[in-house]
Amino acid sequence: MKRILVAVAVIGLAGGLALAKKERPLPAPNGIELPADFADWRIISVSARSDNDTMRAVLGNKAAIKAAREGRVAPWPDGAVLAKVVWRRAGMEEWPPAAVPGDFVHVEFMLKDSRKYAQTGGWGFARWLGNDLKPYGADAGFVKDCFACHQPVKARDYVFTQPAVLPRLR
Ligand code: HEC
Repeated sequence: MKRILVAVAVIGLAGGLALAKKERPLPAPNGIELPADFADWRIISVSARSDNDTMRAVLGNKAAIKAAREGRVAPWPDGAVLAKVVWRRAGMEEWPPAAVPGDFVHVEFMLKDSRKYAQTGGWGFARWLGNDLKPYGADAGFVKDCFACHQPVKARDYVFTQPAVLPRLR
């Protein structure tokens, strides 16, 4: 009986791993794994770029949302993860002046761990491209460009996005 249970457990485990492998894209060249549940995170703000016709949503994991609501964003606490999802801007079919998200372009992340990522302001950077979520960057050095471009907002812990203001009931 015990042996059967062990066999069932092993098959179950192997099945689970195979499934996880198929669903998970490759890690970024710096070893960061795509946070599997990011599509369920809550929104911090939205933005649109006029120069390349894209729309973006900035989402946060639980720790990031809590920090944003409490105004603990300079610096953001360890454990906070920010995601930026980018789509092509499309006109709504039924009402063309309304801009809506079209094709998915990429998703990118900033993960706060002040010790692990001390070299890059305490943030781990990673990006995955297109629907097949191809990891971005030829090697781990890609983070230099991410970090360099985020310098203008060094005083805001390298984060451009400021939580969008929402009316709140007490
Ligand atoms: C050319 C400049 C530039 C580069 C390079 C760049 N970013 Fe950003 N990033 C921005 C700007 C500007 C914003 C905020 C406005 C927007 O895009 O909506 C931003 C926003 C973000 C956000 C949302 C949090 C925030 O700071 O507002 C994440 C996450 C992010 N970038 C990750 C990355 C990663 C990962 C890389 C490298 C693979 C990267 N960025 C490279 C300019 C840059």
